[in-house]
Amino acid sequence: KRLAILVSGSGSNMQSIADSTNRGILKGLAAIVLVISNNPNAYALRRAENENIKAVCIERKDFEDEKSFNGAILEELQNTKVDIVCLAGYMRMIGQEIMDVYRGRMLNIHPALLPKFGGKGMYGYHVHEAVVKAGEKKSGVTVHFVEEEYDTGKIVIQREVEVFKSDTPQDVAKKVLAVEHRIYPEAIKKVVENEL
Ligand code: GRF
Repeated sequence: KRLAILVSGSGSNMQSIADSTNRGILKGLAAIVLVISNNPNAYALRRAENENIKAVCIERKDFEDEKSFNGAILEELQNTKVDIVCLAGYMRMIGQEIMDVYRGRMLNIHPALLPKFGGKGMYGYHVHEAVVKAGEKKSGVTVHFVEEEYDTGKIVIQREVEVFKSDTPQDVAKKVLAVEHRIYPEAIKKVVENEL
């Protein structure tokens, strides 16, 4: 299967998926054929170059409206014959035009146990602060299908992470990110093997 990874930041999830296609559980099952970033400074673009993966930057400011911005992303995805789109640290909503074509074939990873602590508007970058502030005993990672409503689609895999009283949000972020790197490839494998 041909994967596209949508990124905005460091791209550590993209890296773990790439590693998994090269020598892990996705070897022979999937390949990353495209990386799209909305942020020209995303380190993820460097990682893609290092992996010889086609990487494009599509920035909202270069378009006069959402529709043409979304159209540019969709065109890139379709020209590259992408089967499955994986959002990995992608910090924008996916437009309706893209949803209409990729619903059921688009995944996102959220660094918490959805439906708790969901929705970028609510927590966004500060989900781990919210978890620590709420005194949660556990947090975790959720890979889910993308739907119109933020962080609401069918859950593919969820994995828990223990939160200790002494944990800072950074401690939680570190533990959660390590689990993300393990379960995103597992979730993609499940979808590719149509276990869902
Ligand atoms: C991380 O905070 C991760 O929890 C979330 O997006 C952020 C960046 O991930 N999924 P990445 O290193 O760009 O994959």
